Amino acid sequence: MHKRIHHPNENLSNEFRKGMVETEPKSLRTYTPTQAVLAESSGIFHWTPEGRRLYDFTSGVLVANLGHNSAAWMNRFLVYMGYRSLLAKSDGQQSLATPAQPFFRAAPLTAYNAITPVEVKANQTLLKLMRGCPGGARLEKILWAASGSEAVQKALWASLARSQSRDIILATRFGFHGKKGLSQAITGSETDHDRDPRVKFISFPMKERLDVSQRMDAFDFTPYAMELRFLKNEFGNRITALCTEPYLGGGGSYHPPTGYLQGLQNFCRENDILFILDEVQSNFGRTGSMFAFQTYGLEPDLVILGKGLGNGVAVAAVVGRGDILDSLDYGEASDTWSANPMQAAATLATLEEFHEQNILAKMKVSSAILEEGLLKLKQFPFVAHLRGEHGGMVWGLEFKDYGGVTGPEWANRFVLANYLGSFQRKDSDFGKGQIQDGIHFLGPLAKKVIRISPPLIIKPQEASDAVQLMHLAGQSLAIDGAKQC
Ligand SMILES: Cc1ncc(COP(=O)(O)O)c(C=O)c1O
Repeated sequence: MHKRIHHPNENLSNEFRKGMVETEPKSLRTYTPTQAVLAESSGIFHWTPEGRRLYDFTSGVLVANLGHNSAAWMNRFLVYMGYRSLLAKSDGQQSLATPAQPFFRAAPLTAYNAITPVEVKANQTLLKLMRGCPGGARLEKILWAASGSEAVQKALWASLARSQSRDIILATRFGFHGKKGLSQAITGSETDHDRDPRVKFISFPMKERLDVSQRMDAFDFTPYAMELRFLKNEFGNRITALCTEPYLGGGGSYHPPTGYLQGLQNFCRENDILFILDEVQSNFGRTGSMFAFQTYGLEPDLVILGKGLGNGVAVAAVVGRGDILDSLDYGEASDTWSANPMQAAATLATLEEFHEQNILAKMKVSSAILEEGLLKLKQFPFVAHLRGEHGGMVWGLEFKDYGGVTGPEWANRFVLANYLGSFQRKDSDFGKGQIQDGIHFLGPLAKKVIRISPPLIIKPQEASDAVQLMHLAGQSLAIDGAKQC
C-alpha cells in the first residue's frame, strides 16, 4: 500500500487522502510530496477542500493550456455536442429529464465505427490549421487515439506496416513517450529492463543545453551524425522511423538546439526514414509556437498530438502522411473511444479558443516575467539550472546537492514548501497563521527537476505574484537549511 501523506491543518484533505490510499493502488500515481486534493478549479487556480487557493503550475500535466473550466471553451464544446439549447431550456430546473422526455437529441457520446459530422469538421479544421503552418506540408490525415501513448503506438504500428523488411525504430535516449506497448519500448534507454530489440537509441544533446544560459551556444552535430551513420551501416534499410520529442519533457526538460533536430530530420530524408515528432507534451504553445515543429523549423512525416489537444477531454492523434497512415488495414488501429464526438468537439473548441483569444501572443508577456523570476531562483545554493524555450511556457528547474541534502530532496522540499505556502510554517518569519496561496507542482522529473508549466492564459500580474511565492518558498528552505547546517 502506498504512504498516506498527512499535512497539518488539512482535516478534510487528509480524510480524502486516507480514502484514496485505502481504495487505490500506488501504481496509479507518481510520487509527490503533497498529495494535493483539488476540490475545485477555475482558470489558473485550484482550491483545496479547505478553501485554500493554489496556482496550478502543472496545467494538470500540460493539459489545461486554456485554463480550467473556461466558460468560452465550454460554450463551444456544448454547442458542438448539441447540448447548449437543451441547457437553456432546462434553466432553473433541477434535472434535464422529465417523465415525458427521458432522452434528448444531441451528438452521441459514442459512435463506434460510424461517422459523425463533428468528427469530420474536427478533421478538416485540425488539418487546415496544421497544413497552414510552415512545416505542415506532409500532414494529410488524422489517426485519432484516446491517450498520448496510444497515439505513439499507432504511429509506430503504421511505420512498421510500411514494409515487412523495415523493423527497426530509432528513438532518442532518455525520452518519454508513454508506459504501454511500443510507447514504452521507445522510452528511456537500452539499459532499462524489458527492452524491445527493434528499438535502437541515439543520443540527445543534454550537456550542451543544461541551462538557459547555453541557449545561443554553437552546436556541433558531428558526434550525433557519426552515431546515426553507425546505425545506418549496421541496420541499412531495415530502419523505418526515427521518433523523438522536440524537447525531452519527462526526462528533465532538455530543450535542444535547432541544429540537432534538423540534423535528425536531414538524416531521415537522406535515408528514406520517417521522421516522427512526439508533440504530446509540446503541442499548443509550450515552445512558443502552436506546434514545436514550427519552433524548430521542421517538416515531420508524422506528428503525435495529445494532452492540450482537448484541454481536459481525453483525446490524442497522429497527424501525418496519408500513404503511411493508410498502410494499416481495416480495424488495425480502431478501438472503442478513438474519434468519438466528445474528442472532436473538445478539439474544435480548443482550436477555436486559441485562435479567437490570440493565446500565443498574450502568453509572451507572462512568459518573460516567469523566466526572469525563475532565473533569480538560481541565487539559492540548492538550485542548479533552469531550462526552457525562449517565449515558451514550460521550464525545468533543476536542483543540486547542497549542505548535506541531495538535489532530489531539495526538489521535493521545494514542491512541498510551495504547496504549503507560509500559513503552515512553524516559525514566524513568514507570517505564521496567515493563510497564503500556494503553488501546485508535480513531484520532480528525473528525480530532481521541477516542471513549471502553468496554463498559457496566466496573466502578467499572476505570473509575478507566483514568482514571489516561489521566492518565499526558496527563502524559507534556505533558512531551514542554514539552521540544519
Ligand atoms: C512526449 C510525451 N509522449 C507521450 C506521452 C504519453 O501520453 P499519455 O500519458 O496521454 O499516454 C507523454 C506523457 O507525458 C509525453 O510527455
